[in-house]
Amino acid sequence: MSEAWQESDSKVFADLGRIYTPNRDEIESTLLRLIPARADERFWCVDVGAGEGWLSQRVLQRFNGAQVIALDGSSAMLARARERLAPYGQRATVREFRLESDAWIAPLPGGVRCFLSSIVLHHLDPEARWTLFRNLYRRLEPGGALLMADLIAPSSETERDYAAEFWDAEVKRQSTEMTGSLLAFDRFDGDQWNWYRHPDPGDRPSRLLDQLKWLEEVGFVGVSAFWLRAGHAVFGGFKAKP
Ligand SMILES: C[S@@+](CC[C@H](N)C(=O)[O-])C[C@H]1O[C@@H](n2cnc3c(N)ncnc32)[C@H](O)[C@@H]1O
Repeated sequence: MSEAWQESDSKVFADLGRIYTPNRDEIESTLLRLIPARADERFWCVDVGAGEGWLSQRVLQRFNGAQVIALDGSSAMLARARERLAPYGQRATVREFRLESDAWIAPLPGGVRCFLSSIVLHHLDPEARWTLFRNLYRRLEPGGALLMADLIAPSSETERDYAAEFWDAEVKRQSTEMTGSLLAFDRFDGDQWNWYRHPDPGDRPSRLLDQLKWLEEVGFVGVSAFWLRAGHAVFGGFKAKP
């Protein structure tokens, strides 16, 4: 794994990621709503850094014709994703990949309708993320989309403080609502997961405004931020049809 993400992180996140992610249900409904496909259409979707496969599973459930490739670099996450996606047979492929390398892009099917990614791409440095946006744009079929949820860098110290407090509040709320106790929040706090309070040099989030500009630079249209909460955003763009 990268310096930023270790197998020990995978074990924690596979169990607690739903609590640590601010309102994952809204992230899910936003991403699914924006996928440019009909429910019964045959198309390829790639989940970049799929973790234990929850988003891939939702795509397979919502879109009967979808074929999903779920990529991750953690053996613990890959094992969980394989188990979760096994009921979907050949509609789901779980594959190991390295985010820093572009070697995984060439073997993808010719036309990908949708690249999805949830809370992963901030592990790349900004230059590599720009290059990834460009490479994924090239692999999309016309009418396709790159849709991401990710941690974003603040534009001011005021925003940093706001995001830090809001993220803590969200994890506290979800810890109580989902488990009936604050133990999960205590773990989040103790392990210093709140990047706004505990910047980790291995995490390289960029400002939302910068990433929206990069998406336009590489050719995407309809580029926008579609959802924002506690320092996390859902954003992306579409490849125009000729
Ligand atoms: C915060 S988790 C998010 C997982 C999932 N997308 C979700 O929303 O629950 C980050 C994921 O990125 C993967 N990851 C981090 N750095 C990676 C790298 N350099 N190469 C491949 N995968 C990586 C981790 O294994 C982990 O599953």
